[in-house]
Amino acid sequence: MRSGLGVLNLLTQLRRLSTKMSKPSVYVTRPDVDASGLELLRKSCDVSTWKEALPVPREELLRQVVGKDALYCALTDKIDAAVLDAAGPQLKCVSTISVGYEHIDVAECKKRGIRVGFTPDVLTDATAELTVALLLATSRRLLEANKEVNNGGWKSWSPMWMCGQGLKGLRVGLLGFGRIGQEIAGRVFAFKPSQITYTTRTPRPQEASKVNAIHVDFEEMLRESDFIIVCCALTPETKEVFGTEAFAQMKPNCIFINTARGGVVDQKALYEALKTKRIQAAGLDVTTPEPLPLTDPLLQLNNVVILPHIGSADIETRKEMSRITARNILAALAGDKMEAEVNK
Ligand code: NAP
Ligand code: GLV
Repeated sequence: MRSGLGVLNLLTQLRRLSTKMSKPSVYVTRPDVDASGLELLRKSCDVSTWKEALPVPREELLRQVVGKDALYCALTDKIDAAVLDAAGPQLKCVSTISVGYEHIDVAECKKRGIRVGFTPDVLTDATAELTVALLLATSRRLLEANKEVNNGGWKSWSPMWMCGQGLKGLRVGLLGFGRIGQEIAGRVFAFKPSQITYTTRTPRPQEASKVNAIHVDFEEMLRESDFIIVCCALTPETKEVFGTEAFAQMKPNCIFINTARGGVVDQKALYEALKTKRIQAAGLDVTTPEPLPLTDPLLQLNNVVILPHIGSADIETRKEMSRITARNILAALAGDKMEAEVNK
């Protein structure tokens, strides 16, 4: 017969063994990410997901993350110290299905040794393409014109009706010249603008030379551009850089496009600039808040085109984003190099 101490030792050993054998646990904040990513995770992890095709409510996230080894999140989830505290010290990785990561407190993650994954590159072309589509829809007034077809406003071909502003011979300024900015510039170049300029903290002469782009400061970009395209990261430095003062310096024919983040713009100032025709028009794929309430005054204006944050919404792109987010988690759990890790 075993002594009491022997039974206790056996139980402890069994518990250790079962801990070793149990799969790592992953919480996924959306059930509707492409299944291929979830399948990858399920091969070696216990995966649980939020049940609705909507952002997980904060309280639910705080409950579900408890004891998890990894968190698969989206840009609509705020991942701060409270979430990390709720998860517990075993949390090894936060992986977001987005390239933007301003919703994650990266410094807090690093402090705790939690690795952060994201999805750069894969969505660059899709987002650049959407940016150009939005620019053309705004500058050539496609949505306004389409409404006229549907509401009987189309009486005949008319010489000056529904005229907009083409890119040829005009100046395009980009705030941000990273992965997406450079691809936007490449596409815009084909429309024969007079000059492409870009504004960043670090000049990129080699990349810029491909489209004859020149580096200018923010004030010059505001003053001289006929089109302004926002494609920078949202940081404390870029938060609301487009405010009343910035719009006041722009040319009255300026067309303002934002596919970065709503937070880069003071939206009240933008509304005033559009309403008073201080600038000509705006195309926004991102707003504050998202979704934009139906009562938002911007929706009353006909010189603004608003899309529901669909920059990377190309089917194959979103599928691969789901897989990269999963592979980032698997690599982090194995202690391997992640496919795309935020190193800040
Ligand atoms: P990236 O390669 O890191 O480029 C970011 C650019 O922002 C860099 O050129 C950077 O240049 C510039 N930047 C950062 N801080 C700046 C500052 N204070 N002043 C001027 N420029 C500044 O990122 P990306 O892959 O191109 O993505 C850019 C952003 O697009 C993401 O962060 C995300 O918010 C947004 N996005 C939106 C969608 C959508 O669905 N609409 C899709 C994907 C991405 P310097 O560091 O040299 O200043
Ligand atoms: C989308 O906005 C992203 O950051 O991936």
